[in-house]
Amino acid sequence: MINKETIDRIFDALIIEDIIGEFVHLKKSGANFKARSPFTDEKTPSFYVSPSKGIFKCFSTGKGGNAISFLMEHEKMTYPEALRWAAGKYGIEIIEEKLTEEQVEQQNDRESISVVVAFAEKYFINTLQETEEGKAIGLSYFYERGFREDIIRKFNLGYCPDKGHEFTKTALARGYKLKYLLDSGLSKDTGGQPFDFYKGRVIFPIHNVSGKVIGFGGRTLRKDKKIAKYFNSPENDLYNKSRVLYGLYQAKNAVLKKDECYLVEGYTDVIALHQNGIENVVSSSGTSLTEGQIKLIKRYTQNITILFDGDAAGIKAAFRGIDLLLKNGMNVKVVLFPEGEDPDSYSQRLSTEEFSTFLSENSKDFMVFKTDLLLTEANNDPIKKAGLIRDVVESISYIPDAIKRSIYLKECSRLMDIQESVLISEINTLLRVKIKKENNYSQPELPKQLQDKSGIPDNTKTNSLSCFEQEKDLVRILLTYGNRILYFDNNVEDSKEKPESIKVTVAEYLIKELQVDQVTLIDERCKTIINEYSRALENNDFLEPRHLSKNENLEVSKLCADILAEAYELSENWTDKHKVYPETEDMKLKKAVKDVIFRLKLKHIRIRSNELQEQLKTGEDLDDNKLAEILLKKVHLDKVKSKLSEEFGTTII
Ligand code: CTP
Ligand code: MN
Repeated sequence: MINKETIDRIFDALIIEDIIGEFVHLKKSGANFKARSPFTDEKTPSFYVSPSKGIFKCFSTGKGGNAISFLMEHEKMTYPEALRWAAGKYGIEIIEEKLTEEQVEQQNDRESISVVVAFAEKYFINTLQETEEGKAIGLSYFYERGFREDIIRKFNLGYCPDKGHEFTKTALARGYKLKYLLDSGLSKDTGGQPFDFYKGRVIFPIHNVSGKVIGFGGRTLRKDKKIAKYFNSPENDLYNKSRVLYGLYQAKNAVLKKDECYLVEGYTDVIALHQNGIENVVSSSGTSLTEGQIKLIKRYTQNITILFDGDAAGIKAAFRGIDLLLKNGMNVKVVLFPEGEDPDSYSQRLSTEEFSTFLSENSKDFMVFKTDLLLTEANNDPIKKAGLIRDVVESISYIPDAIKRSIYLKECSRLMDIQESVLISEINTLLRVKIKKENNYSQPELPKQLQDKSGIPDNTKTNSLSCFEQEKDLVRILLTYGNRILYFDNNVEDSKEKPESIKVTVAEYLIKELQVDQVTLIDERCKTIINEYSRALENNDFLEPRHLSKNENLEVSKLCADILAEAYELSENWTDKHKVYPETEDMKLKKAVKDVIFRLKLKHIRIRSNELQEQLKTGEDLDDNKLAEILLKKVHLDKVKSKLSEEFGTTII
C-alpha cells in the first residue's frame, strides 16, 4: 500500500500536460492543450488538457479525469500502477505503508506459488510438444478436436503425464518446495508419495491480464461420466477464481478495439472462437459472472454479448447473473445457439465469415430477449404475465442510467402490450425502495421561514426520481464560482444608516442553505464534494476546484473533470435555458446560485412527496394514526413546495 503522503506528493508534483504528452501529441491552444482523441479515431481534435484545472476531457468519448485517471484509462493501469508510474517519472520515493508480518508472509507465499506455476506451465507445454506420450495422447487429442498448432501455442496448452508422480518428482528435484506444489494444487498428498493432481489430463493454463500464469484447468481424456471433466486450481494466494476470466489476456486488445466482449462458458469455446477469427472472447469457466469479473471486463468495454448454448431453463438460470451485469452499467446482448450446438462446435462448422454473420444477425438485446422468452412461457396466462412484468421491470430497475431505463420501459411496454405508465409506476416503486435503502434518505426539514400559504399547482411530472441533474448543477456552480463573493443588502428597516452589504462566498451561501434545511445529497460523488467544501469552510479555507479534480476517489475526480470541462460562464445559453434574465453580473450570479439551490430543494421535496403519495396508494392496511401522520407530512411538504415555488417565481420549469 502506497501511503497517503506519497500519494499527495505525487499529485502535487505531477504536471498533467507532461504526462499525457508522453502518449498524445498535444498542441497549445490558449491556456489549454488540444489533440485528437487517443480513445477513438477522429479528424478534428476534441481532446483537451487544462493545466490550470489539472484535468483532461475527451468530448468524443466523454472520458475525462486527472493525470492518474488518464494513465488508468489509456494505459489500462490500475490505480497503484499509475501512481508508481508517475512517481517514477518525477523521481518521488514511494513509501509503503508498513506491511504486517502476516502480509509479508502472504506476499512471499504468493511469489512462491507464482514461481511454481510458471515452472509447471513450461513443463506441461514441453510434455505436450516434445515427449512421446504427450504427442501421442495430448497433442493428438487437440488435433482431433480441430485445434490448430498456432492456437495450441497461443494458449500455452499442455499435457501432464499419466505416470502418477512424474511432474511432482521433477519439480521437487528442481528444488521447488512441496508446500507450494500442494498450495497451488499441482500435487496432492494423501499419505503416501505426493502425486500429480492433473495426471493424464490436457492442461489449459489460466493467465492474469498481464499474461502471468496463475492457475490451470485440466481436462480428462476419459469418457467415463463419473470422473470430473475438469480439475481446476484451488483458491490460493495467487489464484482467485472470481477475479479472473479465462482468455482475457489473449482477448484484451481485440475487446478494446471492437469495444465489445463475447462471453462463453468454457475453455474450449474461447479457443475455438479465436481460431475462427473472433478474438474478443472470454470465459467465466462454467460459473455465473462475479462482480470482480465484470469489473475486469469493464476496464476494456461496457458492451458484453453472452453466447448461450443450452435450453431455456439453462438461460433462465443465468438471468440473475445478467442482472448483475446491468447493475454495473453494462450493455448486455445475448446470442442463442441452435439446439445441440455450442460456440465451439458451431464455430468449427462455419467459415469465419459465416460465423461472424451468424453472431451479428442473432445477437439480441438482453431485455428484449428476456421479455420475449417469458412472454412465450406465460402464453397469455394473466397471472404468469403479471409475474413476468414484475420480473422484467425489476431487471430494468437495475440499469443505473435513467435515459437507458426509460428507453427500455418504452420498448418493453410495446412488447408486452402494457401501458407504459403502468410500468413506470411499477419501476418507481422499486427504485424508491432502493433509493431509501442505499441512501437512508431523510426528509428535508421545514425551513423556518417557509410557513403557510399553499395553492400553487404542481406542474411537475412525477416520473423522475433522480435529482442527480440538480445536484450536478449545484456542484457545477460550486466548482466554477465557489470562491466568488456575493453581496446581500442588509435591510434593517429602522436603521438610519446606509444599509450595509453582507459579504459571503458562493460556497458559503450554498453550504449554509443545505445545512439550514438539512438537505443531504443523494449522489455519493456530489455528497463527497459538498463535504469537502463544508470542511474547508469550517477551517476558513478557500477550496480550489483544481484540488477536487485531484480527489483520490476517482469517481469524484472524474465528475469534477467532467463538470469543469463543461463549465461555461453564465452565458446567454444558460440564461435562456433557465429563463433567467438578470441585469448585472452580480445579479446574474446571485440569481444562478439561488436558482440552483431552490431547484435542488424542490426536487428533494418532490421525491419525498411522491414517496408519501405511494404509501397512501398502497397502504390499505394503515391504521388511522399512521394515515393521519402521512397526510400531515404530505400537507406540510406541499406547503413548503408552494412557498418555495413562490419565492422561486417564474423560473420553475
Ligand atoms: N467446468 C468445470 N468442471 C467440470 C465441468 C465444467 O470446471 N466438471 C467448467 C470449465 O471451465 C468448462 C466450463 O465449465 O470449460 C464449461 O463446461 P463444458 O461445456 O462441459 O466444457 P467445455 O469447455 O465445453 O469442454 P469440452 O468442449 O471439452 O467438453
Ligand atoms: Mn464444449
